[in-house]
Parts: sequence; structure tokens; C-alpha cells
Amino acid sequence: MRELLLKKCNNCNALIKVINDCNCKCSFVCCDEIMETVNANSTDASIEKHKPIVKVENNKIKVKVDHVMESDHYIEWICVLNDKEEKYIYLDSSDIAEVEFDYVDNATVYSYCNKHGLWKTTIE
Ligand SMILES: [Fe+2]
Repeated sequence: MRELLLKKCNNCNALIKVINDCNCKCSFVCCDEIMETVNANSTDASIEKHKPIVKVENNKIKVKVDHVMESDHYIEWICVLNDKEEKYIYLDSSDIAEVEFDYVDNATVYSYCNKHGLWKTTIE
């Protein structure tokens, strides 16, 4: 199953998505430092407030993240990914963290908090 591979700069907060990793030792550099791989569900923060709550209904994937949406702390985007497709819905602090996507098989749903990083739920 395909996974989202993100790299983050801990100095300037730049975030990049890697489509094909180089698998060599050179890695990705920003602000003169190697960018860190962003691992889902690994930040020391409330799982209940970050992990996408997913419901499949009427050929839709309905996603809710039970998180505050404030100007300095909010869910920036929600993504649905499987082996063939990847779709993002970008949010701002005036939105609610509740979105829906067309159904796709074997999907993983990701949410990204501007302070607490990447979270995921796999649809069984
Ligand atoms: Fe958060």
C-alpha cells in the first residue's frame, strides 16, 4: 500500500511531498540541514483531536477531524490516498475540518495540523 512521504524543514517549516524517493544518502536539504521525514501519528499530541474520523456512506468517504480551527492552530489539509489516486482538500482556519471525497478502494486518510503534523486513518 502506498504511503504519503513528506519531508519537513525544522527551521523554516517548509514541507515537501516526495513522489519518488532517491533511496540514496544525499536526502533533501533546506536551510542547510537535512529535511526530516514526517511520520504519521507520531507527534506527542492528542490522537482524538487529530486522527481523521472516517465514515464510508453513499459511495463517499466522509472525514471529520475533531480539532480546533483557529488562526494559529488548525487542520491545513485532508488527503485521501490509495495506490492509484491522491486527493487533497485544503482548509483555512475559518473552515470546519469536515470534508468528503468520492469513494476509492483501500484508502488511507491523512490530516495535517499546522502545529502537530501528520495523522492518518486507514479504511478497513
Ligand atoms: Fe493540533
